[in-house]
Amino acid sequence: MPEASVWRTSPNLALNQLVAERRAAGDDVVHLGFGESRLPAFAPLAERLARGAGRNAYGPVAGGDDVRRAAAGYFSRRNMPTEADQIVVGPGSKPLLMALQHVLPGDVLLPRPAWNSYAPQARLAGKKAYGVPIPAVCGGIPDPAAVRDVVRDARAAGGDPRIVVLTLPDNPTGTLAPPALVREICAVAEELDLVIVSDEIYRDIVHDPATPFLSPAEVVPHRTVVTNGLSKTLALGGWRVGVCRFPGNSWGREVRDGVISVASEVWSTLAGPMQEVAAHAFSEPPEIRQRLAASARLHGIVARAVHRIMVDAGAICRPPTGGFYVYPDFEPLRAHLASRAVTGSGSLQRHLFDTYGVMVLAGHHLGDDEDALRFKAATSMLYGDTAEQQEQSLAADDPLALPHVAHVLARVEETFTELCR
Ligand SMILES: Cc1ncc(COP(=O)(O)O)c(C=O)c1O
Repeated sequence: MPEASVWRTSPNLALNQLVAERRAAGDDVVHLGFGESRLPAFAPLAERLARGAGRNAYGPVAGGDDVRRAAAGYFSRRNMPTEADQIVVGPGSKPLLMALQHVLPGDVLLPRPAWNSYAPQARLAGKKAYGVPIPAVCGGIPDPAAVRDVVRDARAAGGDPRIVVLTLPDNPTGTLAPPALVREICAVAEELDLVIVSDEIYRDIVHDPATPFLSPAEVVPHRTVVTNGLSKTLALGGWRVGVCRFPGNSWGREVRDGVISVASEVWSTLAGPMQEVAAHAFSEPPEIRQRLAASARLHGIVARAVHRIMVDAGAICRPPTGGFYVYPDFEPLRAHLASRAVTGSGSLQRHLFDTYGVMVLAGHHLGDDEDALRFKAATSMLYGDTAEQQEQSLAADDPLALPHVAHVLARVEETFTELCR
C-alpha cells in the first residue's frame, strides 16, 4: 500500500473546490484556474440525451456500432482514415489516457509544462515521467532535439522512456504546434522507437479556421494513438464522453484490446445515453459544425483579450492559437514582484488569490519550474455566470462589448495592472 500522503486530489479540482467555498462565503472571485468551457449544453444534444434514456443495457465495452462508426467518420473527415473497429469510447478521455498508460510499456516523455494529469497518471501506472522543455514558439510538444538528449541520457542511466505525449492544441499554453514541428517530433519518434499518444481533446478549438492542423497520426499512423472527446469542444465535461483511435495495424489492435481489457474491469462501457449523444455529435450534422465554429471563435476572441492584458502588464506570453488558455511568464517583473514577496509560481498564485480574488493555476502544478513566475489562466470561464449570458457571448459579433464580459475583463485588467505597477 502506498503511504496515505501520496494520495492527492488533482490540483485544478482542489482549486475549484476552494473557489466554490469562497464564493459560498460571499466573496467575488474571478476563476481562471479551471479548464472548463463555460458554455451551456447544446439543446439538440440534450434532446439526444433524453432520447438515449432507453439505452439501459450495458452494451459492448468498446461502445455500440453507431457511436464507433460515427467516431470513425469524424476521424476520417480529418485526414485519418478510420474503421469502426479502431475506436473505443469511454467516460471521458482521462480514463482512456489512464488505460493507455497501463497498457503501453515503458516510461513517459511529457512536454514541460503539460496538462496536470499526465504525470500523476504515469505515477499511478508505476511509470516514470520525464519532463522535456517546450520550444519558444508553442507548447503541447516537447522540443524534438531535447527529446533526443533526454532519451539518450535516460536510457544510459537505465531508464526506459518509450512513450511521448503530445497535446494538440495545448493545455496549458493555448497554442497549436505547427506542422513542421509535428513532423520533426514524428521523425524523432521513428528514430528512437517511441509510441506517440496524441491528445487532441482541443482539436476543434483552433481559433483561426485557416490554421493548418497536422496530427502525428497522419505522419506516423502505425505508432500513434489519438484521444479526443466532447468535454472541451462541445462544453460537455460533466457528461464524460471520450474517444480513443488506435492504429489499424496488428500493434494497434493489441493496444486496443489492452484498453478494452482495462475498461472491462474498471468502467464496463460508456453510459448508454451518452453513446446516443456521442453518435450524434461525431456524425457532425450542420448544427454541430456551426456550434463548434461559434465556440472556437469565442474562445479565440477572449483568449486574445486576456493575452493582451498579460502582455500590457509586462509578461512574456505566447499568442494563443487554440484551446482556451494563456500561459504568461512574469520573469521581466521579477524584481518588482519580489518586493511583494512573490518569488515563484506558488507565491504568485497565492498572492493573486489572496489580494485580488483571482484564481489561476501555478505553473509548478503543470511540471514547470517552481521558481518560474508562470501560471495558466483558463479564459473560458469569462463568458458569463448564467446560461443566458453564455449563449449571448456565443452569438455576439463582438462578445467583448457585452457588459458581463467587459466587466470581468476589466477586473482582470485592473488586477494585472495593479500587480505590475
Ligand atoms: C489536455 C487535456 N487532456 C485531457 C483532458 C480530460 O478531458 P476529459 O476526461 O473530460 O475527456 C483534459 C481536461 O482538462 C485536458 O485539458
